[in-house]
Amino acid sequence: MPVPIIAANWKMTTTISEAKALAGSIRSRLEKFKGVQILVFPPFPAIESVLSILSESRIAIGAQNMYFSDRGPYTGEVSPEMIAELCKYVILGHSERRLLLNESDQEIALKIQAASKYKIKPILCVGETFQQKESNQAQQVIERQLYTGTEYLENPIDLMVAYEPIWAIGTGVAATPEEAQLNMEYLRACLEKKYGIESGRKIPLLYGGSVTKENVSKFLYQKDIDGTLIGQASVDPDSFIYIVTQAAKLV
Ligand code: PGA
Repeated sequence: MPVPIIAANWKMTTTISEAKALAGSIRSRLEKFKGVQILVFPPFPAIESVLSILSESRIAIGAQNMYFSDRGPYTGEVSPEMIAELCKYVILGHSERRLLLNESDQEIALKIQAASKYKIKPILCVGETFQQKESNQAQQVIERQLYTGTEYLENPIDLMVAYEPIWAIGTGVAATPEEAQLNMEYLRACLEKKYGIESGRKIPLLYGGSVTKENVSKFLYQKDIDGTLIGQASVDPDSFIYIVTQAAKLV
């Protein structure tokens, strides 16, 4: 298995001082896990402090969002250029932004394009609602989100895609590993269709949605799951360390 990717989305769940404490606590305990790629996504105001706490460590930092324009009068937004000065990864199209902040497929496509321009590696999130799953539309929805999100991305070299069923996020009800695999195999086929078999096969696919220390290995065992994007279980240092330990055992 290639190096598993364990990505921690801290969302808006920590203050700056809590983020610093969390970074300090995982840093010392994660140093030994050479076989796992660990990414953490702190809230914007904590990025710089977390960066300095994790400097010279193997843990990479990313942003949870960014705007698509280079610069200009966009009060409150954060530009790709600013992100690029700080870190190398960004989560784009998270369902919380799509649903709560009305982010459109078109905006997400522009953000993916901007990330590529500034050499920031995006994690494009896709996933269906419960109603869409119940009416057998999951694959149609994730295919649309994938193709529109990558509309302007010619070279997918730095792209990662996270399959995060909306009904599984923060609910404690994860998809079954088999169900996730089925939809992620479909995403893989869509990527291979768009970018060619060789490039499509290399794009890391992450599962997200109620990943815990108990279920993480079952996801990572699946053929088309290269890693996980974790919310709640990533802000508890003990559970996050345990998750990384489980991932390291698979290498
Ligand atoms: P969760 O969140 O692990 O708390 O379900 C995952 C995510 O939103 O990325």
